Amino acid sequence: MRTQVGIVGGGPAGLLLSHLLHLQGIESVVLERRSRRTLETEIRAGVLEQGTADLLERTGLGERMRREGSVHRGINLQFGGRRERVDFEDLVGRSITIYGQHEVVKDLIKARLEAGGEVYFEAPAVSISDLESENPKVRFEKDGEQEELVCDFVVGADGFHGVSRRSVPEGTLREYERFYPFGWFGILVEAPPSTEELIYTNHERGFALISTRSPRIQRMYFQCDPHEDPDAWSEERIWEEMQARVALDGWRLVEGPIIEKNVVAMRSYVAEPMRHGRLFLAGDAAHIVPPTGAKGMNLAASDVRVLARALGEYYARGSEELIERYSEVCLRRVWKASRFSWWMTSMLHRFPGDDPFQIRLQIAELDYVTGSRAASESLAENYTGLPFDPEFEEVLGGEEYLSEPHTGSR
Ligand code: DHB
Repeated sequence: MRTQVGIVGGGPAGLLLSHLLHLQGIESVVLERRSRRTLETEIRAGVLEQGTADLLERTGLGERMRREGSVHRGINLQFGGRRERVDFEDLVGRSITIYGQHEVVKDLIKARLEAGGEVYFEAPAVSISDLESENPKVRFEKDGEQEELVCDFVVGADGFHGVSRRSVPEGTLREYERFYPFGWFGILVEAPPSTEELIYTNHERGFALISTRSPRIQRMYFQCDPHEDPDAWSEERIWEEMQARVALDGWRLVEGPIIEKNVVAMRSYVAEPMRHGRLFLAGDAAHIVPPTGAKGMNLAASDVRVLARALGEYYARGSEELIERYSEVCLRRVWKASRFSWWMTSMLHRFPGDDPFQIRLQIAELDYVTGSRAASESLAENYTGLPFDPEFEEVLGGEEYLSEPHTGSR
């Protein structure tokens, strides 16, 4: 088998890249280890930065998102018995869209298959070789057979545990890492929303977050031990903990049947550079952020936005300039998002060994962030998605294959 761009991984990064390449007439093959059903039902994050939602919209993927997603113009921060709203629309004139990652994936798979795109499910990549040649190869399995895909370029979009990053020769990547000594216990609840906008809570029992998925399904999280066993938590015990952390002047969460529970560990990780020879790393294969602030999928989208543009330049004009700059351009944004996610995590969670002084500092920070226009504007700018910096904007300037957003500014 031969293609122009071999994409290892059919999550948001791989599928969106395949879509953006297709819009420029560039051929790709997506190899995904999991089944289509798993991809389309796995519950992950659900916050799209304005730039991510606009990108989906401008590339013809916005129809269901506009109908079923919901636009939020702010979030709430709760601490010291107060709930304060940060008004994104007022502060930066931007908003976010709540729309589950698996819904984005469903829309992408549908668009790729309808356009005749080659997406292979249950086709795990086994190895990637010849990265330094002009014909890198991906060996993969399909229906019990070993196959080989010969490409001009390979993109590793197969997540943190995928084979792509491990295919880079030992000692080539610099890795930066931080573990957080807690996890998030996530639940999906069949109930109407308790709040119009997200609530991030700093509480003495630990962090809690109230989010949503639809008018009938709510998404909530609470800080827990990273090794917590979800089955050790009955519905009653979960509700007791959630209610205790978010209670405010008699305000209570609307409860309902818990239809899913899981625990996610939290870490920050960045690998540099994001390219080796003709292999490009994108999304979680290159970097992980803790979930606080919901940057993971948004970073995946901005990586492949840059990559699609760089490959577009290569195929249209034979220029390798943008390809050469892929890693540097992406990493500037990756590090800013890593900083923001680390900061939100640090401000909102209880850390083992926190003393009363540390806790007072957290409360002072939350008081400052919600009380000062300068500070809340910084939060709003980061949360809704940093503008692509001027140099970056220039890099992305020629996206002639994108249409105007249907709705203008959200
Ligand atoms: C969600 C996840 C996040 O990490 C976050 O910061 C906000 C919302 C969510 O899954 O809805």
